[in-house]
Amino acid sequence: MLVLRSRIFGIWLGALCGLLVSCGPDEPTSYPKPTTFVPDSPPPGLGFPNLPWPQDNPPSVEGVALGKRLFFDKTLSLDYTVSCASCHHPNRAFSDTVVYSKGIGGALGKFNAMPLFNLLWANRFFWDGRSPNLRDQVLQPIQDPVEMHLSLGQALGRLSGDQAYRVAFGKAFGDESITIQRLQWALEQYLLSLTSYRSRFDLSRMGLANLTPSEQRGFDLFMREYSAPGSGRPVGADCFHCHGTALFTNRSFENNGLDSVLKPGFQVVTGLASDRGKFKTPSLRNVGLTAPYMHDGRFATLEEVVEHYNSGVQSSSTLNANLRVQNGGLRLSPQDKADLVAFLQSLTDTTLALNPHFVAP
Ligand code: HEC
Ligand code: HEC
Repeated sequence: MLVLRSRIFGIWLGALCGLLVSCGPDEPTSYPKPTTFVPDSPPPGLGFPNLPWPQDNPPSVEGVALGKRLFFDKTLSLDYTVSCASCHHPNRAFSDTVVYSKGIGGALGKFNAMPLFNLLWANRFFWDGRSPNLRDQVLQPIQDPVEMHLSLGQALGRLSGDQAYRVAFGKAFGDESITIQRLQWALEQYLLSLTSYRSRFDLSRMGLANLTPSEQRGFDLFMREYSAPGSGRPVGADCFHCHGTALFTNRSFENNGLDSVLKPGFQVVTGLASDRGKFKTPSLRNVGLTAPYMHDGRFATLEEVVEHYNSGVQSSSTLNANLRVQNGGLRLSPQDKADLVAFLQSLTDTTLALNPHFVAP
């Protein structure tokens, strides 16, 4: 009871402080200009598209640090038990190990938690793409009743009641006022700073490592088009149409043949029947760390995923044309399948979990 009362008092005090400019005699009301943050960007040789940060939210060292602090802070959930990192584990490329992550009170969501990296290059967020940008996205888990279940008013009250947060917002944005927009900006800065481009595959591209013969064969299969029986051409796994480029995603929404009875998917955004059953094509970077797989976590292993493409593709009205022509499946040999999985494992960036910038503060 005492704890509860002091918490309520904290919220009250926070709300008061939010109204007044300064709360204590020692706190400065304005802060020096934040330090420019230099993003850890992939070298040009790797072929990532050159994209600018959002111009109205230039990253600062203090802004990224504040975003990180918010990301790992359970204060942003109703009963102080869940943070963003509860479902997005840094050592799993910021994804979760379970099919459906537990939110507040153990409630389960409807989708498998997505990994978080290279988000600068993503153009829509969530499996069905319903969020158009990160600053919109970050407010959704906070308020979602099965995730963190905190109203934005409560979030502001709690943060404003915490002197350390007032100072952190001051350092990041020049003064101590804590607003929804600044909360969005700080989380957006942190999320955009999470880049990943140091897998063994990347090192091999830069001449700093060699792929094993099996990984190299897997890559060749990945990049080769499907060949119909009797065509005389070597077998191809035809993955690059959707998972091509340095990003290992076409940054689009596709139906990869998981179901014959379609869920809405991208249709929730466009309203078009032709987008039914389409989901965000995930990057395959770090896929060795992000099991279980697909929007509903239905596959536990990469072997199962490869077998899906080899023999399990379901026909439906919006099935991708490249998969539609693969009548009877890819016809990969056991060795082909093993090589594909070996290649996928070479896309793991083992530096992620070691990067002090990425792990819990
Ligand atoms: C209870 C588990 C849970 C919590 C807590 C949670 N997330 Fe998520 N996150 C998910 C799930 C599940 C998805 C996919 C949901 C969907 O597609 O509808 C997701 C998707 C995302 C995406 C979209 C990624 C993409 O590539 O489209 C971002 C960004 C994200 N979360 C950031 C956050 C942030 C920031 C927080 C904290 C404010 C947070 N998440 C809290 C489970 C969680
Ligand atoms: C038609 C486009 C398309 C093709 C071709 C394709 N994929 Fe996918 N892939 C997707 C989409 C879309 C998803 C997510 C689907 C979902 O969850 O509903 C996905 C998911 C995956 C996942 C799970 C990733 C995760 O984080 O859950 C893996 C692994 C994968 N694909 C590997 C491959 C491999 C290997 C090939 C070639 C044999 C391939 N894909 C061919 C579109 C495609």
